[in-house]
Amino acid sequence: MASLLDVLSGQKTETPPIWFMRQAGRHLPEYLEVRSSAKNFIDFCFSPEKAAKVTLQPVQRYDMDAAILFADILLIPIGLGREVKFIKGTGPVLNPIDVDGIKALTIDGAADRVSSVFETVSRVKSELPKDKALIGFSGGPWTVATYMIEGKGSPNKEIAKRFAYENPQAMADLLEALVVSSADYLIGQAKAGADVLKIFESWAEGLSPHMFERLVLNPTRDIISRIRDAGIDVPIIGFPRGAGLNAIRYAHETGISAIATGTQMPLDDFRCAIPENMPVQGNLDPLALRIGGDVLRKAVDRVLEDGKNGPHIFNLGHGVTPDVKIDNVQAVVNHIRGKEANYV
Ligand code: CP3
Repeated sequence: MASLLDVLSGQKTETPPIWFMRQAGRHLPEYLEVRSSAKNFIDFCFSPEKAAKVTLQPVQRYDMDAAILFADILLIPIGLGREVKFIKGTGPVLNPIDVDGIKALTIDGAADRVSSVFETVSRVKSELPKDKALIGFSGGPWTVATYMIEGKGSPNKEIAKRFAYENPQAMADLLEALVVSSADYLIGQAKAGADVLKIFESWAEGLSPHMFERLVLNPTRDIISRIRDAGIDVPIIGFPRGAGLNAIRYAHETGISAIATGTQMPLDDFRCAIPENMPVQGNLDPLALRIGGDVLRKAVDRVLEDGKNGPHIFNLGHGVTPDVKIDNVQAVVNHIRGKEANYV
């Protein structure tokens, strides 16, 4: 069977390895059971035993080719001394940061303050079958900065973009704090046993080329050089979701090993623009996964077709949602492996 690490080393495989973003989540009853035993979402992320358990669930249930660490991109702001809450039905809530708040960030030891995540990584690693890969991750500096500045998710990130235009020095300081702490955090995960690292730059959409360079490209390149300077050589997947053509420079200039794409990216055309033989990951429409049936079967066939001319990792363009049916996830895994696929 194709392994994720083979594809990340540049091999083109007959069957792509498969895993899904948010594969451990509310669509799984076994996840909900563990979740209900935790005080809140953040405590859940900081409980190595519980987090390791749910990290392994999708590999056990679906035979996914990889497990992704169960944690969140908003743990690093906690390491930097900010308060983060997850409110049911609302999502993450932070106290919006200002120029003084940026000066007060606790960069030294930020990754150490979230180091229970490293224990989750080593627990998962010791239980994961040898032919499966463990993916560690952090948020991209810009994406995490948008939450720190705006205090919550927002549709177009206008407040964070304004802040970047109007306070260039404070923005540079915030990004630097995130670069240093995220690099340490990723290095810690790799040392604890992560086979692959992924940088979730989920809000890379709607930035001018100049802003993309300042807010996404340069900080990401800095994180990756820090990781490589620390002697960590695991593959790194970049995910500049929605970046459009800005993703081309991102693929060439940040030092990533592979690139994950959102739903709108035509994989085969995209290959022509990125470094030769760079593995691509993605980009099944999460809505097709929710709808299921023939819609999903056709969508899967199209992604397989678009991805087949080079190293390809099968995934969604964004995460699994709570309303997704277990049978449909299993059907996609079976389908791409040439087994009977019972879409519902
Ligand atoms: O892919 C994985 O399963 C790995 C773990 C992971 C989670 N969040 C677990 C989670 C990863 C990689 C993330 C990344 C993340 N977190 C992003 C970037 C990726 C993306 O989805 O675009 C962002 C923007 C966040 C911030 C965040 N965390 C939001 C906005 C929410 C609330 C939305 C929701 O679904 O309720 C979360 C909570 C969260 N993070 C859940 C999970 C499984 C749901 C928590 C629950 O209620 O059980």
